[in-house]
Amino acid sequence: MSRPVTRVAVLISGEGTNLQALIDAASANRLGARIVAVVSNRSGARGLERARAAGIEALHLPAGHGQARADYDAALAELLAPREPDLIVLAGFMRICGSVLVERFAGRMLNIHPSLLPRHPGLDTHRRVLEAGDRWHGATVHFVTAQLDAGPSIIRYRLPVRPADTVESLAQRVHVGEHIILPRAVSWFAAGRLRLEGSSVMLDGKALPAPVSIDEEGVLE
Ligand code: GRF
Repeated sequence: MSRPVTRVAVLISGEGTNLQALIDAASANRLGARIVAVVSNRSGARGLERARAAGIEALHLPAGHGQARADYDAALAELLAPREPDLIVLAGFMRICGSVLVERFAGRMLNIHPSLLPRHPGLDTHRRVLEAGDRWHGATVHFVTAQLDAGPSIIRYRLPVRPADTVESLAQRVHVGEHIILPRAVSWFAAGRLRLEGSSVMLDGKALPAPVSIDEEGVLE
């Protein structure tokens, strides 16, 4: 019997280029999954338009003024539940998910972060890379745990920081890599190749000793 198609919900807040990379991979039959809903906490998110243009249900869930995180998370879980997602992908979702939500979807939630984790969790990574004089920068896809940007890493994209780099040039180069590694991680999950076991990332039945790494020249280490 063939596997039922993996149902993916994508959470966004803005432009949605990572969402677009997932949509494009799905239409090219490279994702092995169906994006069943896109949810944004911001009404003007361009990603919502991208979802609608692709015929995907696009939902806006605003946070009420002064709304407690737990209450927002509960509303989000309630919105997602009937869509029956197997996987939730945070693709530029600029909210912290609380522990109740994260535990509810443990091992079924991925995040893309614009740095080589564990370096530079949180915001403003490109500026911090330049200020620290880092030689390397990039992006990481990881399983989401209750600790911000600290869940087990799956795959990362690495690029050398050049002397002429600016926040804008790094943002642009990192985006290129994000659009490669996010669909790849989702496709592994959808194919049943990727799972979280305790704090170990299992790929093809083996614990990954380190995240899979791709460099800017596209070489798989
Ligand atoms: C990405 O850089 C992602 O890593 C970060 O937010 C950005 C979202 O970009 N968390 P987009 O909305 O997918 O274009």
